[in-house]
Amino acid sequence: MTSQDTMMNDKRTTSDARIYGTAPISLGVVDLSPKEMMFWLYCPIKLINSDELVLPPNLMQFSPIVEACMEDAADIWRERYVYLTAKTLWCTPDNTAQRPGWHCDGFMTDDLNYVWCDQEPTLFCLPEQLVAFTQDHPVALKEMEFIGEQGPHMTYPLKTLLRLDDKVLHRVNDFSKAGIRSFVKLSISRNAFNLVGNAINHGLAPDWHYANRSAERNPEVARLNDIAEVQS
Ligand SMILES: [Fe+2]
Repeated sequence: MTSQDTMMNDKRTTSDARIYGTAPISLGVVDLSPKEMMFWLYCPIKLINSDELVLPPNLMQFSPIVEACMEDAADIWRERYVYLTAKTLWCTPDNTAQRPGWHCDGFMTDDLNYVWCDQEPTLFCLPEQLVAFTQDHPVALKEMEFIGEQGPHMTYPLKTLLRLDDKVLHRVNDFSKAGIRSFVKLSISRNAFNLVGNAINHGLAPDWHYANRSAERNPEVARLNDIAEVQS
């Protein structure tokens, strides 16, 4: 059994815990105005147990976000992987460039995620009382959808850097009009995000086996049997 399996099993014992639906933590406004269209998905910028930070040149413009996150998460920064997602894309009400639906980033993990956007702010659900979710991704997503739609809902000012742990219920907003939108997410995790399609940092080039994506919302970390499928 891997340490990840152990962690997941431990988490399952807390399935009736009413801990979900907390608010994100604001780190304040970071005034960036990205112009270059791009799609970087979970690009590793730091490996585990390392201080070496490697930002590809196109992502250097997000250094103020990276530095703010590094300061906020100083106590765990060195011992975790760090990933940067950066999307500057033409979005429409029908194509938001984000997966739809209520969810919690890093559900059933102790990952931290920091999000930032310059249009159509992320929608958060802050129920009057915290709720429990079944510790199983497909089941929990249905529960999140039900709870999330009930609200109450909240957004934060554009360009606010927000810290989300696995208890923060949110979804991409309903876009009112078409336009360019930049979305940036920095993720801190104990795990290698090894799904096919994730950005590869050629300055780090970790020796990972990559696993296929499923049609549904994917956990960031592939299951071992998914990896076996890819390798066979
Ligand atoms: Fe999310």
